[in-house]
Amino acid sequence: MSRPDVVTTVAELRTRVAAWRRDGARIGMVPTMGALHDGHLSLVEAARGGADRVVVSIFVNPTQFAPTEDLATYPRDLDGDLAKLAGAGVDLVFAPETGEMYPEGAATTVTVGGPAVGLESDARPHFFAGVATVVTKLFAQCLPDVAYFGEKDFQQLAVIRRLTRDLSLPVSVEGRPTVREPDGLAMSSRNVYLNADSRSRAPALYAALTRAAAAIGEGLPSEAAVAAAAADIAAAGFAIDYVEHRDAETLGRPEPGRPGRLLVAARIQEVRLIDNIATPNYRQL
Ligand code: PAJ
Repeated sequence: MSRPDVVTTVAELRTRVAAWRRDGARIGMVPTMGALHDGHLSLVEAARGGADRVVVSIFVNPTQFAPTEDLATYPRDLDGDLAKLAGAGVDLVFAPETGEMYPEGAATTVTVGGPAVGLESDARPHFFAGVATVVTKLFAQCLPDVAYFGEKDFQQLAVIRRLTRDLSLPVSVEGRPTVREPDGLAMSSRNVYLNADSRSRAPALYAALTRAAAAIGEGLPSEAAVAAAAADIAAAGFAIDYVEHRDAETLGRPEPGRPGRLLVAARIQEVRLIDNIATPNYRQL
């Protein structure tokens, strides 16, 4: 099956997208950092369903990594990614070099408050400014009608929704459910870092969230459900960064009668995993 065309410059991207737009096509975009797995491919499939033309960006964005994080070792495999995208109905891959995205002297950062505060930001203070800046740039470069993001990175999705609204960007942001391994572990490009022992413990994260969400649905107070989830996760050998029950939209305090979300970040053998789950019928008792 033929691989998608690849462009590496903003000028080429704009030329291709402008031609489609002249033909009246609706443009869908799937921003990624590559090392593609079935979670990414589910976003491509959604884009196929919701747009006439699909652009996938592959760019390991340095501004969302702290100096101590895994930028240098983050898995990169453009050739393998293009093979995975062959036959997936992708019209164009945008794979810029760092200099194309951040020209010499780049001095502008998009900073989001609200849902970007706390949770991931506590452990990774640079993270959402890096994500918000690169996503704003990708939207400005490609001008998609619709862009697809995974609920796997739930806080990121909330931040992107908020920045799109706050900056009046004419892009519809679509969130898609987390794709999981058969044992429940959320697919992630970083799962390749897990050794056999950690991999066998990793499904405990989702199992704990599932139990806690069910308990909240049955009326267990949020604090008790969160404490039980934290105990389960620690018992599986994780060091916990956070386990929190939040409002699904604002990521503030959960409110009775509004959709809630349980979110977790925890480390095992130096690998940091995140996951989250919807909480049904949340009632503050
Ligand atoms: P990356 O981690 O490559 O993820 C790209 C997109 O795939 C994100 O929207 C993410 O939420 C989604 N995704 C990852 N794992 C998933 C899974 N198991 N199920 C469903 N969707 C999944 O997130 C980023 O890149 C970057 O921060 C980016 C938005 C591209 C900005 O650099």
